[in-house]
Amino acid sequence: MILETFKHFPDFELLDSGNGYRLERWGAYRLARPDPQAIWEHQLADAEWKKADAIFNSKWQVKTSVSQPWPIRFPLPLKAGEAKTGEWSIKLLARLSTFKHTGIFAEQAANWEWLTEQVQNTEFKAQKEQLKILNLFGYTGAATILLAKLGCFVTHVDASKPAITWAKENQIANNLPNDSIRWILDDAAKFVKRELKRGAKYDGILMDPPAFGHAPSGRTWKFAEDFPRLLADCTELLSTNAKFLLVNAYATNSSAIALQNLLEDSIKKTGTLESGELCLKQNSGRLISTGIFGRWSK
Ligand SMILES: C[S@@+](CC[C@H](N)C(=O)[O-])C[C@H]1O[C@@H](n2cnc3c(N)ncnc32)[C@H](O)[C@@H]1O
Repeated sequence: MILETFKHFPDFELLDSGNGYRLERWGAYRLARPDPQAIWEHQLADAEWKKADAIFNSKWQVKTSVSQPWPIRFPLPLKAGEAKTGEWSIKLLARLSTFKHTGIFAEQAANWEWLTEQVQNTEFKAQKEQLKILNLFGYTGAATILLAKLGCFVTHVDASKPAITWAKENQIANNLPNDSIRWILDDAAKFVKRELKRGAKYDGILMDPPAFGHAPSGRTWKFAEDFPRLLADCTELLSTNAKFLLVNAYATNSSAIALQNLLEDSIKKTGTLESGELCLKQNSGRLISTGIFGRWSK
């Protein structure tokens, strides 16, 4: 069981947590947001919390001036022997959004680092082939942008039009060509079924299914009921040379062990399986668990 945290994301810091809140730095701004898990005491002095540019208390209260959207950069590692000129990072647009969100889940940076390793370790590029990746429940597209920037062709699926619009803004902010990403506004499970019928194959699949969600048709998604079927369908979409499958889950009643067991049963391919809790590490070293993940790689 792994307690996973990102290694290098200079634009984000978890400064402190406690009394039901997190204090974070997102690029130029300090934000204080509720986190019901933080049932312990603050470690930093109140004066540090008072420096927050915005606080979420049922809605955002901006105390300084926050220019929106503002860019958050995630650096990309260079492949051995590769010389890149100019800046080599992705840019994600952050906003003070509804339900205390910023459009970016910072803890996902640990998954972005893992995905980068999987993609950069591949022999595909040497063969001048492009990895085909499927990102389900892709939200504002952080992982989609990362993978497209690394040279993959990404199919991004989400049931929310505003989320896809934001993700497309991220595509433009990163100067990615139109044909680097296929945008699909649809129910993830339905889209996967259609891809199975069409005989589509993917070299890597990632997904972040919510505990509850709504398809554009209004159909309700329930993790415990719908996820096992979706995972089984996704494993059939993996190509012979597939490199990875990654599942992330927030706020479900499932444990990382349940995810590991399900992956063991579903993935018939050889490779490495691992699972654990996706965490944020605050500057003092204290961890916050944000969700669970399970991943397979060849
Ligand atoms: C937790 S967010 C994903 C966060 C993302 N992995 C990231 O790091 O930026 C869940 C997303 O699932 C989408 N969603 C909910 N139900 C869906 C469904 N049935 N089909 C497709 N997308 C759905 C929501 O619109 C939302 O964007």
